[in-house]
Amino acid sequence: MKQLVIANWKMMQNLDGLEACLNKAKVDGLRTLIVAPSYPHIPLVLGFGVHVASQDMSRHETGAYTGDVSAQQLTELGVEYVILGHSERRIYKHETDEHVALKVKMTIAHDMIPVICIGEDAEQHKKKQTTKVILAQLAKALKGVKKTSELVIAYEPIWAISGFQKSKKKVSASVHDIYTTHSHIYLWLLDHGFKNAKVVYGGSVTPQNASEILSLTYVDGVLVGSASLDAKSLNSILLA
Ligand code: PGA
Repeated sequence: MKQLVIANWKMMQNLDGLEACLNKAKVDGLRTLIVAPSYPHIPLVLGFGVHVASQDMSRHETGAYTGDVSAQQLTELGVEYVILGHSERRIYKHETDEHVALKVKMTIAHDMIPVICIGEDAEQHKKKQTTKVILAQLAKALKGVKKTSELVIAYEPIWAISGFQKSKKKVSASVHDIYTTHSHIYLWLLDHGFKNAKVVYGGSVTPQNASEILSLTYVDGVLVGSASLDAKSLNSILLA
């Protein structure tokens, strides 16, 4: 199975950067590249022949929801994956587990694959509540979801995401913590009959730590933010 490299460009890429990056990105390599651009850039990214993830999606099918983008609108373009419940949306846009659960079902109903983000905050990490917190998030997100559904679960400890870190030096979770947490997620998925799920890690993945993280058992790929914006850095991760 090919590992996934999901490039979450957030609101950080411009047109020049997009073209410079994708002109040089090693698209057909050892790993599958999935790019998550801002909405207006989706058709351009698809033009480069890469898989595309949306960074979010409306929980409504259709209607008067100014600013929302629907599942149907995404599938019409050729979007295959939808990132849901990213901590930046949970924190800045007040998305709840209930919203995430609705969107997961909507994504699957439209034949796209949800990338469901779960993760503990710094306080919960310190108190060793990680497993309890993430498994509760997972249970809520997957309530009522068909067991055969194709899923990607992204373990993203909030404190490890570069945008939430104050210092310049980015700190990911330790390989020990990633291994342990991913093994708990894997077990939970198996116990609950979800057999088509991949588990990826996100949070300060860089060219320096990618190879170590990607070599771990139970790690099916990485979700990368700031280190995925330029081709040199992205390619080092794709080839790590
Ligand atoms: P980061 O972002 O790689 O910049 O830490 C990861 C993410 O938020 O998905």
